[in-house]
Amino acid sequence: MYIAPSLLSADFSNLEKEVKAIEKAGADWLHLDIMDGNFVPNLTFGPSVIKSIRQHSQLFFDVHLMVQNPLDLVDSYIKAGANQLTFHIETIKNPMKELLEVKSKGVKVGLTLKPKTPVVDILPFIDIVDTVLVMTVEPGFGGQSFMKDQLSKIETLKIEAQKLANPPFIEVDGGINKDTIRLCAQKGANVFVAGSAIFTETSEYKNNIKNLRNLAE
Ligand code: DX5
Ligand code: ZN
Repeated sequence: MYIAPSLLSADFSNLEKEVKAIEKAGADWLHLDIMDGNFVPNLTFGPSVIKSIRQHSQLFFDVHLMVQNPLDLVDSYIKAGANQLTFHIETIKNPMKELLEVKSKGVKVGLTLKPKTPVVDILPFIDIVDTVLVMTVEPGFGGQSFMKDQLSKIETLKIEAQKLANPPFIEVDGGINKDTIRLCAQKGANVFVAGSAIFTETSEYKNNIKNLRNLAE
């Protein structure tokens, strides 16, 4: 079970301090939200920021690509130090070919979907990816409310993943906090992204992570 704080809720004016603090506080992965103002109505950062924070962290960099043309910058993200690249099914035309191609570059690959996209759209590819990510908010912003109606996707993915020799991680992202994490864990999620629930006061990061971990176990 992994806790993956989302840097989106950190203080962007002090990223070195934030990544060091979150690693020290016991984060397992660092979730990095890339937004292009096109696929989602918000903008964040790109490979150069990842490259800069890579120098200050040993964490597994879990990069969530909320962009219209995610394949354009794959090599730049890898070069910058991404450990996993997660693609939205809505943005790739030929998933089997393209996901395998990215994987062959030596990076882990994830696959995700927007809340309105049916889970059957990603099922044909779960055996070739390292992680499947269930979005429990409309992607674009931190601090939104958890969408309970997405829980059944976790359940379906868990059932299908169990049939595989190498099941992918089942990650959940959006509105994860002390009231919702357990629901996801019970359905079978094992990687938990949380932004606003973790990045409160710096002195609280450790406790926030510990409390979420206890609830998910
Ligand atoms: C939303 C992002 C999330 C976001 C989660 O589009 O994908 O990773 O940072 O933030 P919280 O945990 O505050 O909902
Ligand atoms: Zn995300």
